[in-house]
Amino acid sequence: GDNVNRLLVTGGAGFIGSNFIRYVLSEDSECRIVNLDSLTYAGNPLSLSDCQQEDRYAFVHGDILDRGLLEQLFDKHAFTGVVHFAAESHVDRSILGPEAFIDTNIKGTFNLLDVACNHWKKDTSFYRFHHISTDEVYGSLGESGAFTETTPYDPSSPYSASKASSDHLVKAYSRTYGFPCVITNCSNNYGPYQFPEKLIPLIILNIMDKKALPVYGKGENVRDWLYVEDHCSAIWRVFCSGKDGETYNIGGGAERRNIEIVEFLCDLVDRKLGCESSSRELIEFVQDRPGHDFRYAIDASKLKSELGWEPAFTFETALEKTVDWYLANMAWVDDVRSGAYREWIDINYAKR
Ligand code: NAD
Ligand code: DAU
Repeated sequence: GDNVNRLLVTGGAGFIGSNFIRYVLSEDSECRIVNLDSLTYAGNPLSLSDCQQEDRYAFVHGDILDRGLLEQLFDKHAFTGVVHFAAESHVDRSILGPEAFIDTNIKGTFNLLDVACNHWKKDTSFYRFHHISTDEVYGSLGESGAFTETTPYDPSSPYSASKASSDHLVKAYSRTYGFPCVITNCSNNYGPYQFPEKLIPLIILNIMDKKALPVYGKGENVRDWLYVEDHCSAIWRVFCSGKDGETYNIGGGAERRNIEIVEFLCDLVDRKLGCESSSRELIEFVQDRPGHDFRYAIDASKLKSELGWEPAFTFETALEKTVDWYLANMAWVDDVRSGAYREWIDINYAKR
């Protein structure tokens, strides 16, 4: 029928995108989803192997830098909405090699916006474009205060500068062309299917392998953590009920210093595996990240009061769920670490 959502999700083979697709397929029994992902090192379609048989879900192996492909997909599927996750997402990689961040996060977002906007001009059934962004665009906080939607942009890394740039493009399309868009800026996520370069899965897996646990600087930097499923419920709430042209901050109110998390994980994993010696001995304080933002904290009161969203999980409970997931899914871990799933992709999907 006419009210059925036909969503284009970009970057759906990554961490948050794969959790989001699974969430929406179960939340909205009619929604149809095309997942467009170029499968960089961070993308693995096996993260959605349980959705593969679902006829409301289709995977397309392709790049948001490929404008011709985007136009074809809009013509073919007449999407009613876009939820845009595709990005280079790792701060440390952006410091070592910024160019891919400029290409995907800025130029790729521009391509997608422009094609979607042209489509919307011809097809009024298009509902909205939802851009997924980060709290890192706001820069760094001192010991107190929290980011609101009106905090000035002040990005520190090539990653956050590229995300800030993409946010500005989305706002420009909204103001200049009246293109229906919403932006969400979220704090640090954790949970199943996160690539083991990010702090939490890296530490869990290094504890299991009895490898050094690298803590940048003195481990005193603070992040505001949110379980990925709570991020997905917030995105879906904003996509369905938010107001065009608006930005919503998303966060769980779970500020922790990095060292607290690492020590908590050591004790938790030791207990689960019945280790005799303490994994805390593996902690190594290493050279700090250049330009390392000291503290992030999100004020999510707009999302809570206007749209009635609340997180369902508390930090320590969901962190334990996350540890259990990694312990139970070592095949997925081995697969993403070795890149072995790529052979399977070559067999199953022809590159477009
Ligand atoms: P991720 O690195 O796990 O996944 C990114 C996905 O995008 C991968 O599947 C990758 O293959 C795909 N991709 C990359 N370049 C592409 C291109 N040119 N064309 C098509 N696909 C491409 O990232 P994530 O942690 O899931 O983050 C998803 C989004 O959420 C990003 O936009 C990120 O900025 C934002 N975000 C992440 C967090 C977090 O804590 N992880 C917090 C707030 C916002
Ligand atoms: O705030 C949202 C952002 O969170 C997202 O926009 C990014 O895509 C996502 O990667 C994440 O960025 P961070 O830089 O905060 O995440 P990361 O897991 O890389 O690091 C978390 C903190 O832990 C940070 O203060 C750096 C520190 N760290 C990280 C690694 C990988 C360590 O001390 N040791 C490590 O080995």
